[in-house]
Amino acid sequence: MKNIILTGDRPTGKLHIGHYVGSLRRRVELQNSGKFDKVYVMIADAQALTDNFDNPDKVRANITEVALDYLACGLDPQKSTIFIQSHIEQLTELTFYYMNLVTLARLERNPTVKAELKQKNFGGSIPMGFLTYPVSQTADITAFKANTVPVGEDQLPMLEQAREIVRSFNGLYGETLVEPKAVLPENKSCLRLPGTDGMAKMSKSLGNCIYLSDSADEIKRKVMSMYTDPNHIKVTDPGDTKNNPTFIYLDAFSTDEHFQRYLPEYANLEELKAHYERGGLGDMKVKRLLNEVMQETLEPIRLKREEFAKDLPAVWEMLKKGSEVAREVAGQTLSEVKKAMKIDYFGV
Ligand code: TRP
Repeated sequence: MKNIILTGDRPTGKLHIGHYVGSLRRRVELQNSGKFDKVYVMIADAQALTDNFDNPDKVRANITEVALDYLACGLDPQKSTIFIQSHIEQLTELTFYYMNLVTLARLERNPTVKAELKQKNFGGSIPMGFLTYPVSQTADITAFKANTVPVGEDQLPMLEQAREIVRSFNGLYGETLVEPKAVLPENKSCLRLPGTDGMAKMSKSLGNCIYLSDSADEIKRKVMSMYTDPNHIKVTDPGDTKNNPTFIYLDAFSTDEHFQRYLPEYANLEELKAHYERGGLGDMKVKRLLNEVMQETLEPIRLKREEFAKDLPAVWEMLKKGSEVAREVAGQTLSEVKKAMKIDYFGV
């Protein structure tokens, strides 16, 4: 069996450091590992429209932003096929057939969808498109015969749904589709990076994100005003490092080399944590270190992003080429699906 990656993001905003440690950094490593026959990275505009159908300008504008974030982080169109979901019309056809294999009750039970429904307050009027997006996500994954899907933790229910549809399809129509598995970050702090305000998740609407495109000044301002341990009032007070976003970010981003460079009196993060927990270490010192680490990590990404942003027509040309390649591949899978379902009346 081939090793194939498919993953993607909704173009509803610029990507932030939660996206980076949750999935993007890993994708680039996997892309460069040489262990994969194919890597597909999709800008999920059709999925973004399921809850932004009244704001197509936003989705359109953010396709450029997400593509720039991808390129800046090291996704390379020579090694990965980067494409736009809505351009692959075969995905909608696959979705339509897969819908027969899923019940309404099952979609309503999906924990991610459930949480989103609550947050969006649709009341009794849930748009069908929104409720069925996990089915369309199954089409995204299976169209490319992906077995590996690097994503954030919130996407696990989508992968479970995809596996169920694949098993049900293969059981009914014969072995056609590939069961995918999720690849999550190994570092726990990367699973769900909290916001700079200490809220559970970074989200654009909460204004608690550090973006990959933020300037050096913005990064510094955000880091220096981060939420820490509210009970750590005096420097001498013992502090908590577990629910403290400054330490969670250090967990996700810092290395022992950073300590050698910026805070050599500590060998590593464990020593710094121990000092904070016993008392006697001030928040400013931790934040100054975090600022150095974030600046060092994000500067090369920001500079690359600025370079790519100078030639947007080239970025769109890359997306067009990627989308043409993706369309071919999805077309092949759709033919196999139609054959398996015995609806290939006039051949393929
Ligand atoms: N749901 C993903 C997100 O919100 C985007 C996405 C769409 C995706 N289709 C996918 C991710 C297929 C992985 C595989 O970011």
